[in-house]
Amino acid sequence: MSKVTVVGAGNVGATCANVLVTTGVADEVVLIDIKEGLSEGKSMDIMQTANILNLNTRLTGVTNDYEKTAGSDVVVITSGIPRKPGMTREELIGVNAGIVKSVTDNVLKYSPDAVIVCVSNPMDTMTYLIHKTSGLPKNRIIGMGGALDSARFKFYLSQALNANPNEIEGMVIGGHGDTTMIPLTRFAAYRGVPASSLLEAETLAKVAADTMVGGATLTGLLGTSAWYAPGAAAAQVAAAVIHDQKKLIPCSAMLEGEYGESDICIGVPCILGKGGIEKIVEFELNDEEKALFKKSADAVRNTNAALA
Ligand code: NAI
Ligand code: 2OP
Repeated sequence: MSKVTVVGAGNVGATCANVLVTTGVADEVVLIDIKEGLSEGKSMDIMQTANILNLNTRLTGVTNDYEKTAGSDVVVITSGIPRKPGMTREELIGVNAGIVKSVTDNVLKYSPDAVIVCVSNPMDTMTYLIHKTSGLPKNRIIGMGGALDSARFKFYLSQALNANPNEIEGMVIGGHGDTTMIPLTRFAAYRGVPASSLLEAETLAKVAADTMVGGATLTGLLGTSAWYAPGAAAAQVAAAVIHDQKKLIPCSAMLEGEYGESDICIGVPCILGKGGIEKIVEFELNDEEKALFKKSADAVRNTNAALA
């Protein structure tokens, strides 16, 4: 039996639960929120698609009842406030730190062996907060940002190449912020052919720039931050753990010397499996990429300082 809990039944959490159920990632999914009736309502709505879509996962919605989350293998934390147009992810820190800390304490009471996937923003700092306050081993705390940013990178690359997004390779590392993420254009490829040999340098630079403000672009269009791709990306990370997939997905991980940084959670390529982050893969960055990573780490560290 595999079980996933999703905390926060808002836009991202409910979408994540829906993707988990429709893709049959776990036998059981629990959706939990503090807002009375919200999880129950969204779960009921999703479960009413079961007979239409021939689904076999059991989804239960609960209001603040952590006992129902007991024995979860993976807990996805999406609770917190999202950004509004003009806001940065960093501006959410005060409110979301309190929420993320109390939610983590509650879920670990009932699922002491769970792998935690942090989605709440500012995600790298919230992931760091969980590391500092939960006492969990570092492999069991995963920050979800790179999965989403890489999906956006591949989307923009596919548009520029007029190609199928499934045939595109692309990774984004660094902080999950408009100015801190680093789309690795040098490693981007279409069917193994470097994107740099298929696109003009200016086009590739625009793809990278569009990726970096991908979240802000959607926040501007929607009036709140995006949820379909974020929810699906969180489900992708949960699935990699539940199914022990050993997938290479950029995630925010606690570094201990990797990429020249320590005592920081920031996006790096990770192998995800049953143990959570089973390995951090260290690709050889060139000098320009190293400088960008250092700058990104400095910015994330600056945000972390607001936790004190
Ligand atoms: P939302 O406002 O739609 O949903 C948040 C939910 O959290 C609400 O239903 C609220 O009642 C619930 N909540 C608040 N405090 C809670 C608590 N103590 N316990 C349980 N539930 C609680 O927001 P949305 O759009 O779903 O975004 C959620 C978070 O995810 C935001 O912080 C947002 O910035 C972040 N986000 C992160 C992304 C990433 O890639 N890391 C991508 C997109 C959003
Ligand atoms: C996003 O990237 C705001 O983190 C959120 O859509």
